[in-house]
Amino acid sequence: MPEQTRIHATRQDGVLLLGLNHPPLNTLDHALRQQLHDALHAAALDASVQAIVLHGAGGNFSAGADIREFDQPRQPPWAGDVALLISASAKPVVAALQGVALGGGLELALAAHARVGTADARLGLPEVKLGLVPGGGGTQRLPRLIGAAAALPLMLEGRNVDGNAALALGLLDEVCDGPVLLDAAVRKARALREGALARPDRIDDAARQAGLAAVAAQRQRLAAKPHALPAQRLLLDCVAAALEQPLEAGLRFEREAFLQCVASPEHRGLAHAFFAERLAGKSPAGAARPRPVQKVGVVGGGTMGAGIAVAMLDAGLDVVLIERDAASLQAGQDRIGGVYQRQLDAGRIDAAARARRLARLSAATDYAALAEADLVVEAVFEEMEVKARVYAELDRVCRPGAILATNTSYLDIDQLARRISRPQDVIGLHFFSPANVMKLLEIVVPGQVADDVVATGFALARRLGKVPVRAGVCDGFIGNRILYVYREAANFMMEDGASPYQIDQALERFGYAMGPFRTADLTGGDIGWATRKRKAATRPPEARYVRVADRLCERGWFGQKTGRGYYRYPERGQRGQHDPEVLALIDDERAARGIAARPFSDEEIVRRYMAAFVNEAAKVLEDGIALRPADIDAALVNGYGFPRWRGGPMKYADDAGLPAILADLESYAKEDPGFWAPSELLRRLAREGSTFGKLNRQP
Ligand code: COA
Repeated sequence: MPEQTRIHATRQDGVLLLGLNHPPLNTLDHALRQQLHDALHAAALDASVQAIVLHGAGGNFSAGADIREFDQPRQPPWAGDVALLISASAKPVVAALQGVALGGGLELALAAHARVGTADARLGLPEVKLGLVPGGGGTQRLPRLIGAAAALPLMLEGRNVDGNAALALGLLDEVCDGPVLLDAAVRKARALREGALARPDRIDDAARQAGLAAVAAQRQRLAAKPHALPAQRLLLDCVAAALEQPLEAGLRFEREAFLQCVASPEHRGLAHAFFAERLAGKSPAGAARPRPVQKVGVVGGGTMGAGIAVAMLDAGLDVVLIERDAASLQAGQDRIGGVYQRQLDAGRIDAAARARRLARLSAATDYAALAEADLVVEAVFEEMEVKARVYAELDRVCRPGAILATNTSYLDIDQLARRISRPQDVIGLHFFSPANVMKLLEIVVPGQVADDVVATGFALARRLGKVPVRAGVCDGFIGNRILYVYREAANFMMEDGASPYQIDQALERFGYAMGPFRTADLTGGDIGWATRKRKAATRPPEARYVRVADRLCERGWFGQKTGRGYYRYPERGQRGQHDPEVLALIDDERAARGIAARPFSDEEIVRRYMAAFVNEAAKVLEDGIALRPADIDAALVNGYGFPRWRGGPMKYADDAGLPAILADLESYAKEDPGFWAPSELLRRLAREGSTFGKLNRQP
């Protein structure tokens, strides 16, 4: 089969325009690199070509390297080879950037002699988000072009900048409108043809000193971070090489660092998370078209409702906030105002942006204000009867076709849907707190929901910049159901002899930013306490129940907000201190139950925690609550702090080996068969020598 044409060549007088043409994002796969390489070679030899413009077909320049190629044997020419051809060209090369110009795409542009771009173009070197350093010369050319102090944060965080910011940084030479982008690039190329080409390969002494100081400062910052990626440290080494060595030697150094990163588990985990999110984000509603959404109602102005309102306002939607009385409404509006004030204080938005967002917010105590809403999210108290009353009101006032979403985190949405006249319009949109920050959005699909409502949930998530994950209806959906079980495993270990501090530390070493007990102190013990009290009557009497959390709550120790929880917080905002009284209280509980404390190694803590985790996740799959393992990975990474570089719990399980996890479960099941009984799916996969990853590939 003939290879597809990845480079589309046209001419304007003596200027050759080479269009990258590999829809949708012009990723630099091998065929594209080879064809671009050949086209540049030919252009060098063609006397009728006086200058070259590189651009991208289909609205994007390029999303960079094809990530799928990284785990295959890679073939030259590398992006770096093509970049070298560009930078060494005796004929001027100008890059015309629009849409995305990321990673290897931007590296080609950096090698060009000039860059023009549109204001809404997105430029960046996001490789670090995949556990990589740029491998096509980016770490060498970006500091030479804009200075190491400006280049470092961009690369260390993998942040994108738009065209105007790129112009201010010196990354672009000119910003222009999309329709005239190619004309501007051709004009620039012609102008360059007339003069000597700049070769900014050298770095002067002042820039070198300033750059090395910036590298040293970033090194110190990273050293203080418990979970800096190896790629971040290597990036600093690459930039130091850029400052201290000639370009060629720096490029060789970068290539070595890149190959080291590609072979690292961090890269494999982060690439897994990237593709898991994309898989999870595909609407399961097939070809159903989303309903249009512009006007959104939010019922309930508590922390959750206010966060949801901010998320919607940030995405350009109109929001009507509803509360039951004037005082609560004012409090809700104040919460929204408070979020924007903090963003303003932190310099994340300016006053004009805040004003634009708040201008789209209205508020009412009368549900009639929702008559025109396209979608309403209910975020009231987590109690079926309270929610059912809200739903009855919505059923009465909302126009036909309006979507009625609930933000419940565990209630039976099928029941809620059945109680109104339009169950096909009811869906769960489970946000995570703070709702304007957390990426996960569980889209909970009750039995009668219409396909286009599900499609709308996914389209809305995309608009909000969230990672949507489809979940079936059950107590806790995907995330909270699994969370409940691994938290129980932590509670059991605490009662059996590990201190909450050791458990937190072991899991923080594993990669969590915060262990489970520290997290409980942050979120507040009272919420879980209320839930436990409510569920006490239905708890199976034979199930093990650890009372430590209840004992803390009985003392009013709800965590950070009360100054005490598992930890002591003598000063607000400070990291918690170990509390001997808590340890004594745990000892009392052990004594009351006749448990002799035994030591746990950090390794055992992680193994038990993850065995419980993976087992419940497998049951969630078995029950059809999650469609695929990747959905669970996407959910737990984006909503529950699971270390992203490990890819997700299912990827962790595949890496650890399913037979090993099964063997752990079988041995723990001897202590407590009810809690540790292995899932059938896990047994089958282990028996067949299969993996969760293989289930992701099934259609
Ligand atoms: N390599 C391989 N596939 C890529 C890719 C890349 N660099 N970038 C995107 N894709 C794929 C996605 O997996 C998706 O494939 P699918 O439809 O089969 O699921 C498709 O291209 C569209 O991507 P998506 O992310 O859904 O589009 P978007 O418009 O929301 O976002 C980007 C576009 C470019 C911002 C985003 O895809 C991205 O960040 N890509 C990675 C860029 C990067 O890190 N480049 C450096 C690589 S070292």
